Amino acid sequence: MKCRKCGGTAVLELPRHNAAFCSADFQEFFRKQVAEAIRKHKMFTAEEPVLVAVSGGKDDTAGLYLDLGIFEYSVESKAKCESFAASRGQKLIVERVVDAVGAGIPEVQKATRRPTCSACGLSKRYLMNRAAVDHGFPVIATGHNLDDEAAVLFGNVLHWQTDALSRQAPALASTHPKLARRVKPLYRLSERETAAYAFLRGIDYIVDECPFAKGATSIAHKQILDRLEESSPGAKHNFLFGFLEKARTAFDSAEPVTLQQCAVCGQVTTGEICAFCKLIDQVKRRRA
Ligand code: AMP
Ligand code: FES
Ligand code: ZN
Repeated sequence: MKCRKCGGTAVLELPRHNAAFCSADFQEFFRKQVAEAIRKHKMFTAEEPVLVAVSGGKDDTAGLYLDLGIFEYSVESKAKCESFAASRGQKLIVERVVDAVGAGIPEVQKATRRPTCSACGLSKRYLMNRAAVDHGFPVIATGHNLDDEAAVLFGNVLHWQTDALSRQAPALASTHPKLARRVKPLYRLSERETAAYAFLRGIDYIVDECPFAKGATSIAHKQILDRLEESSPGAKHNFLFGFLEKARTAFDSAEPVTLQQCAVCGQVTTGEICAFCKLIDQVKRRRA
């Protein structure tokens, strides 16, 4: 296998691009894809401070870590983020779900009777935005990759979640002074490509999935798409990019949602009290 660019020995084959690359040219390809994502969706400028949400997984660099209180998984992923940030002299903000809610995600889940990942996702979005607003970052970058986005799209299409479809984009604008923009600079790169990049750069990341991910529908959707991708390389890419380029705007709602500040915590919400404050209340009542 030869590198498409330099003709040297390739270390990675990318069937989706009908190409193979040596280590140096793959890294350049990777960085170009990130630059293209940032440019195409005007994610941020070189002058803007960006808060990078890091999970300790392969898709992240440094910035904000949310300690979800999920046993050994959280201990280990936090340690990876701390050592990465320390080795590069970067600041790492750590927010703990237990401080914000009064309990870690495993107990929060018991109080909600919803799938663990739904209370967890809600807490992550809330704490990310709060940290960005509190620390003066206009934009938050997450490490969602092509596989993540294609799987979410698949789930949203299966259930025709039209509101979620209208919000599924590589860059979400701020629609309120207390709402940071959200961007996904890795959406053009697959999980395998981000893992390869981390490996080639010597970035240590947590390989284990969250223990609650087992049996989650998002994993089942990823597996279905993996099978599709195997038989027709580029299927995930076409599915996601086709949606973004040809279909997404069809789901824009005529009525823009009006955001206001939560009566309890002051963060943005569509109702009077935000979903996170309701979650805290549920946890408190369960404890009482
Ligand atoms: P996931 O939903 O676990 O696939 O994570 C997608 C993205 O969300 C990651 O790349 C991070 O940017 C962000 N994220 C997930 N978990 C955390 C966490 N514990 N702390 C900070 N950011 C996170
Ligand atoms: Fe949230 Fe697993 S990371 S439930
Ligand atoms: Zn609130």
